[in-house]
Amino acid sequence: MSGDTPDTSNDSWEETRRAWFQEMTKLGIERFDQAHEHLMDLILDVNRTLATFSLEQAEDEGWLALLSLAKQLEIYGRGLFASEEESMREENYPDLHRHKRAHLQLVGELTRFRQRAAEADLAYCRSSAPALKIDLFDHIQQLDVAYVPFFRRRQRPHLGPYA
Ligand SMILES: [Fe+2]
Ligand SMILES: [Fe+2]
Repeated sequence: MSGDTPDTSNDSWEETRRAWFQEMTKLGIERFDQAHEHLMDLILDVNRTLATFSLEQAEDEGWLALLSLAKQLEIYGRGLFASEEESMREENYPDLHRHKRAHLQLVGELTRFRQRAAEADLAYCRSSAPALKIDLFDHIQQLDVAYVPFFRRRQRPHLGPYA
């Protein structure tokens, strides 16, 4: 691993992406796994952009790129969480309320990040970017996995999309 100076070569980020992808819990529900992967990629791009900042002292172009990523992250995250909640509601998933509260926390985190990126708050963005990945991965591993067997149990008789 690199020390204080981030290694921003493409190879290094490809390696990071492979490691993140391996680490991320897969649900076996294709549309959610693909959506999680897309969120992971956006968060990786946020981190990659910020790593460039530390070398180039945060030029305007960099902030525009970061803000664009932060907006995409918030919009995509909100959409994914709403979609998960809709599926859970349809299946009368018993732990929906707790799961929704956790989604609200994540949305708050994404919104704060987008707002701070808009204010060009580099210290905040740099210190909180690693948590975006950690909190998403923890959420998938601790909460999303809990609905998988439930969805599968409900869907199997119909040979639905999750069977
Ligand atoms: Fe999820
Ligand atoms: Fe979730």
